[in-house]
Amino acid sequence: MSSPNLPFDAIAIDGPAASGKSTVARVLAERLNLVMVNSGEMYRAVTLAVVQQGVDPCDPIAVANLVKAIKLRCVVENGGSQILLDGEYPGNALRSDDVNAAVSAVAAVPEVRHLLVALQRELLQYGDLVMEGRDIGSVVFPATPYKIYIEASEEVRRQRRAAEGQMDSVGDRDRQDSARKTSPLVVPDGAEVIDSSQMVIEEVVEAVLGVLGARGWFDRESERNLP
Ligand code: CDP
Repeated sequence: MSSPNLPFDAIAIDGPAASGKSTVARVLAERLNLVMVNSGEMYRAVTLAVVQQGVDPCDPIAVANLVKAIKLRCVVENGGSQILLDGEYPGNALRSDDVNAAVSAVAAVPEVRHLLVALQRELLQYGDLVMEGRDIGSVVFPATPYKIYIEASEEVRRQRRAAEGQMDSVGDRDRQDSARKTSPLVVPDGAEVIDSSQMVIEEVVEAVLGVLGARGWFDRESERNLP
């Protein structure tokens, strides 16, 4: 079990920007009937508040003060988590160029991570879940045996983001995410690494299902259903 106090399990999918982890997590959630959690949206929501309020994302004290003043809530709707910032759904604003440029600096602030990791762990009360991000297997659910790290070459990832029509320097973000002191992007202990550079989504999903099978995910389901 991913938490000693709850009967549910978490599948942790980590990896750098545009490695395909959100799409893979979404398909997996549909197939296995899991709650899907995109933890990056939570860091993006805090960053949106930083941008909207004109706070310098590189001033950790100002960011820490702001995160104490805003109201973040996470709800589960239609099988997925949704973040509310001061009672509103932020929608597409989470993927704006300004947010892309500032999110890694904001995500490096320990007070931000502390708050969001607590929100992420609370979501396990809603059921088995797949959560994707940068520190899910290393920090949020370190006890889960179901850890996957999806990577792809920087060139492939840059092309994928450009095809989505977004201005996003994935390489810069990865360097910042990997270099930060608090919860850097790492391959978590015990994670299975999948290089998706030459794979289509369905192949990655099949590979993930193979790892989950080898680690007992499906036996766990049938054991639970025993009388
Ligand atoms: O979709 P993409 O992989 O480009 O990024 P995202 O998952 O939306 O995450 C945006 C940013 O949030 C990352 O570049 C990290 O700086 C931060 N993040 C994090 O620090 N920890 C997480 N668990 C998830 C995201």
